[in-house]
Amino acid sequence: MTVRDPALPERVTIWEVGPRDGLQNESALVPTEVKAEFCRRLLAAGLPVVEATSFVHPRWVPQLADAAELLSTLTADLGDAARDLPVLVPNERGLDRALELGCRHVAIFGSATETFAQRNLNRSLEGQLAMFEPTVRRARDAGLEVRAYVSMCFGDPWEGAVPVEQVVAVGRRLLDLGADRLSIGDTIGVGTAAHVTALVEAFGAAGVPVERLAMHFHDTYGQALANAHAALRAGVTTLDASAGGLGGCPYAHSATGNLATEDLVWLLEGLGIEHGVDLDALVATSTWMAAHLGRPSPSAVVRALAQSGG
Ligand code: HMG
Ligand code: MG
Repeated sequence: MTVRDPALPERVTIWEVGPRDGLQNESALVPTEVKAEFCRRLLAAGLPVVEATSFVHPRWVPQLADAAELLSTLTADLGDAARDLPVLVPNERGLDRALELGCRHVAIFGSATETFAQRNLNRSLEGQLAMFEPTVRRARDAGLEVRAYVSMCFGDPWEGAVPVEQVVAVGRRLLDLGADRLSIGDTIGVGTAAHVTALVEAFGAAGVPVERLAMHFHDTYGQALANAHAALRAGVTTLDASAGGLGGCPYAHSATGNLATEDLVWLLEGLGIEHGVDLDALVATSTWMAAHLGRPSPSAVVRALAQSGG
């Protein structure tokens, strides 16, 4: 049953990160053709944004070493539309690889903490910004859209709780470099609802309107859906999620699955918020992917709907 809450947005964009954030963390290498099929099925299920892969160093993330091959396969299948699928690029080398394939939408990914900047990017907090500066400038000059992730926005496994002001300061600098929007990441899933509200408000106080913020939750402590609801209440209209709850981060070992897209869709559906996704097609896709990966999806909604036959 749908019960509309007038305090919440009427429409939400789900930014699907399963093929990137989900598959980057799999111990087994997933064949390129299976990844391409995953992306195609997600798009066919109505997901408006499907983040396809990352142009990172193949030694750092071997799971996504086939980024160019995947993009070429998708371009052969989907034509020009494949170029709108966002891809992660940490630096100019990554951007060059994305530009060679005609990508029109890239995402840089910074850290709110010093330790994770070192572990994830081999750079200091300042060093990451120096690496992003020419990357964003050249991407913008080439007419690309640029999203900027900020990781460890709630807590960091090495540094503990991360102050809100520290997150806002890093986010502001990424926007000042020329990024269009931020995605605020709870990389290890330790955040809780009022912390979400406080972060959105602190960005607002620093002159960053909620329209420029997306939220990216991991479900390590089972808080992702409650945090998504808090984000909606704070006016956020773009939420990242991963089909079937796949995911993690290879350089943050306490990061487990992302907020499952199905769980989010179930919530939005109940709240009468438009999202454009066909839940049955999505569950079928996650069930198919889980069979490839050899283990069931951790999403409660996938389990419930798959058991009830759809
Ligand atoms: P580095 O070792 O410092 O690289 O790594 P470098 O700049 O010193 O270059 C060394 C060599 O790597 C050079 O080659 C470069 O050309 C090459 P050589 O001259 O020695 O032959 N190289 C590259 N090759 C291919 N693609 C590239 C690239 N860049 C340099 N893009 C680097 C620095 C940033 C490359 C590395 O640390 C890296 O690839 N890190 C990626 C880590 C990653 O992907 N983590 C997961 C994504 S973040 C995440 O999941 C969190 C998120 O979901 C949000 C949340 O949950 O909070 C987004
Ligand atoms: Mg993530």
